[in-house]
Amino acid sequence: MVNPEVSSQAKISYRPIQPSDLNILEHIYTELFPIRAPPAFYHDVVNGCGIVSWGAVDSSRPDGQSDELIGFVIACVVLAKESEVLDMLGYDSSKSDQTLVHILALGVVEAYRNFGIASSLLREVIKYASSTPTCLSVFLHVISDNNPAISLYKKMSFKCVRRRQGFYLINGQHYDAYLFLYCINGGRSPWSPLQLLTSIVSYTRTGFNSMVGRLCKSEDGKVSTLKVGKV
Ligand SMILES: CC(C)(COP(=O)(O)OP(=O)(O)OC[C@H]1O[C@@H](n2cnc3c(N)ncnc32)[C@H](O)[C@@H]1OP(=O)(O)O)[C@@H](O)C(=O)NCCC(=O)NCCS
Repeated sequence: MVNPEVSSQAKISYRPIQPSDLNILEHIYTELFPIRAPPAFYHDVVNGCGIVSWGAVDSSRPDGQSDELIGFVIACVVLAKESEVLDMLGYDSSKSDQTLVHILALGVVEAYRNFGIASSLLREVIKYASSTPTCLSVFLHVISDNNPAISLYKKMSFKCVRRRQGFYLINGQHYDAYLFLYCINGGRSPWSPLQLLTSIVSYTRTGFNSMVGRLCKSEDGKVSTLKVGKV
């Protein structure tokens, strides 16, 4: 059941996704995401093959549904040097064994939205990534018009670092995506174009002011006014 009634006594808990979740996972995934996943993907998720995952369940639900998924987050660990993301952001990752956690999917069934479940699932991923000393950051892509998800990531302190043109291909049409990054273990977030511009402007201003300061100081050490224009 994808949209169950939510009781006011809902008791949400989180656990890894397991083989018995296969059918409901596929059902919810198909319902929530416009991009189809191959059957092998679901098998890898429920068997934890190269995947880390957390499912949310409501233990107050009756009739054998108390352990049925109502939300999930699916991620995988990638070697930083094998990820195009760090190269794209200008890091030199070639000589390291550093890793990244890539969130592949995050979803909550409609009836359980706005209860903080996705936030808790993201916290599980961040906690996991932070406990791995070699992990530099958690990252994900989100389609550029998915405002609820974008608000969620911003609220969770993910930084939007790139817009990727035509990143998603859905039903023959390309859609832009934002790349969001959450840095951990001393990893630093790259400068956005706006931050870069601001810092160039501020650097230029500081340089100009110190040059003005030098020009304005006369030989006897007194400060005079700089005359601008034809001398
Ligand atoms: C995006 C999604 C995962 C959010 O799940 P959720 O459990 O409802 O999220 P939370 O309750 O933890 O919400 C936390 C914050 O997210 C933002 N948010 C969530 N739903 C929102 C909405 N409909 N509109 C605007 N902001 C929203 C808000 O900032 C919210 O904080 P607030 O409650 O203080 O306002 C859920 O809507 C979903 O499954 N959508 C379909 C699948 C999807 O788009 N996944 C993301 C793909 S990248």
